[in-house]
Amino acid sequence: MNPLTKLNSWQALQTHQAEMSGTHMRDLFADNPHRFHEFSYLFNDILFDFSKNRLTKETIRLLINLAEERDVKGWTEKMFSGETINNTENRPVLHTALRNRSNRPIYVKGEDVMPGVNHVLERMRKFSEAVRSGAWKGFSGKPITDVVNIGIGGSDLGPAMVTEALLDYQRPNIKMHFVSNIDSTQLFETNRYLNPETTLFIISSKTFTTVETMTNARSAREWFLNVAKDESAIERHFVAISTNAEEVRKFGIDLGLMFEFWEWVGGRYSVWSAIGLPIAIAIGFKRFEEFLQGAFEMDEHFRKAPLEINLPVIMAMIGIWYNNFFGADTHAIIPYDQYLKRLPSYIRQMDMESNGKRVDRDGNPVDYATGPIIWGELGSNGQHAFFQLIHQSERLIPADYIAMHENKHPIGEHHTILLANFFAQTEALMKGKNAQEAAAEMKAEGLSDEQIAKLLPHKIFTGNKPSNSILIQKLDPKTLGSLMAFYEHKVFVQGLIWNVNSFDQWGVELGKQLAKAIQPELSDNQPIHSHDSSTNSLINYYKSHPHSR
Ligand code: F6P
Repeated sequence: MNPLTKLNSWQALQTHQAEMSGTHMRDLFADNPHRFHEFSYLFNDILFDFSKNRLTKETIRLLINLAEERDVKGWTEKMFSGETINNTENRPVLHTALRNRSNRPIYVKGEDVMPGVNHVLERMRKFSEAVRSGAWKGFSGKPITDVVNIGIGGSDLGPAMVTEALLDYQRPNIKMHFVSNIDSTQLFETNRYLNPETTLFIISSKTFTTVETMTNARSAREWFLNVAKDESAIERHFVAISTNAEEVRKFGIDLGLMFEFWEWVGGRYSVWSAIGLPIAIAIGFKRFEEFLQGAFEMDEHFRKAPLEINLPVIMAMIGIWYNNFFGADTHAIIPYDQYLKRLPSYIRQMDMESNGKRVDRDGNPVDYATGPIIWGELGSNGQHAFFQLIHQSERLIPADYIAMHENKHPIGEHHTILLANFFAQTEALMKGKNAQEAAAEMKAEGLSDEQIAKLLPHKIFTGNKPSNSILIQKLDPKTLGSLMAFYEHKVFVQGLIWNVNSFDQWGVELGKQLAKAIQPELSDNQPIHSHDSSTNSLINYYKSHPHSR
């Protein structure tokens, strides 16, 4: 593959950026009354407005040329058809098969994966219905009232985010809890008010070897057995979700209570698999299927729509534009919807673990920026915390602003005020306030010329700050599925442009290895000398002070 920065389309974008760098979005809007219509698309109930970006039709044309030169269409087909595109782990990437509602066959090593996918879905249906109806009883004959998912990373963030986002679809008789942290406080605080007789633990781990999850799972079992006393009770209270039957069996969970998934499902893309079981229990299987349907419809759009009207492709290429041609290091996700509180952390893992790479697919160091730092917060909270920097610092912070037409729990004017802020922020970011406007405003307020001169620099907003607005009819399982798939494919396209393998995560290994070496060194109070002076001194200082085990 040609080095990225040598591509004609890349170099054309560099030239174009130099021309665009002096352009203000105010002028782009003033010059073109159709700008919104030309730079926004509707996908089902999702309106994607990208008109408040520093781009023109020419920019989009050049970005799409780049996507074409990188063969985005070809790679998309490779992913959907099960080719081994995760080259460092020698695996296909088939989370899309998990929501392939058309049931068209998808082959891995000559075998159609769909019967297996459907079989697990059917098991999830039966199990979730049994738990929800109360037919599934705990060891003392009582129905389940609390479900605790123990998992971390992709085995936590997806189900935790979705169950929170869809809280309104849940019944009060079963509460969902998520334990991910190895810090025992989380398990303690979760279990503190739970009754082992009515608690179901779901141990979610693709590998079933992740130290945080396995440690939490063992402690949960101990907590449970303290009351149940009898190991045979475990089968009413512990189920496993994993690809690793051997480890599940060793842990003591009957394989009949293991919900399987496959190595071709990446952890951060696994919410559509059995890892979604907590979601099915929380909202019911029918709703879970709607969630899959939403993702499937976005998949179909992504596969079939031409690049220039393809939502994930457009969103990805706008990200490339800022990341690689304007030097923006970060990208913010700002939901104006309380239920989407955890969406930024979910997308953060999906994006940063996928594209935070320094070498390309063939192992060559890259000479361009790859995945940005993803961060974010609920809209109105963020406004009163960090928006100052987005508005008035010199940094360029592209961001996605997400809101719903309908609020699930309208009270008085809350939603109107929320949405007024949603609209106002992106307008303010785009337009800014120039010196003339700021001075006129202060004059109208009665400030003296001297006061105006002093305050003026502080009151200016340069504007020209980019945003995408995503306006959705209402937050329901289907739309949420579409929204999540929208982001997944954005991340995929960006990985293709940067020619990185978006589906491995070797960068998490070194810390794990070193922690394994340090753990036994903490078992006594003898000073250690095996590390650098900082690490030795930190460990020795810790050991010489009272500490927990
Ligand atoms: O350490 C990173 C990671 O492997 C993530 O990619 C993954 O989502 C998480 O750990 C949990 O892994 P597992 O599901 O195997 O416990």
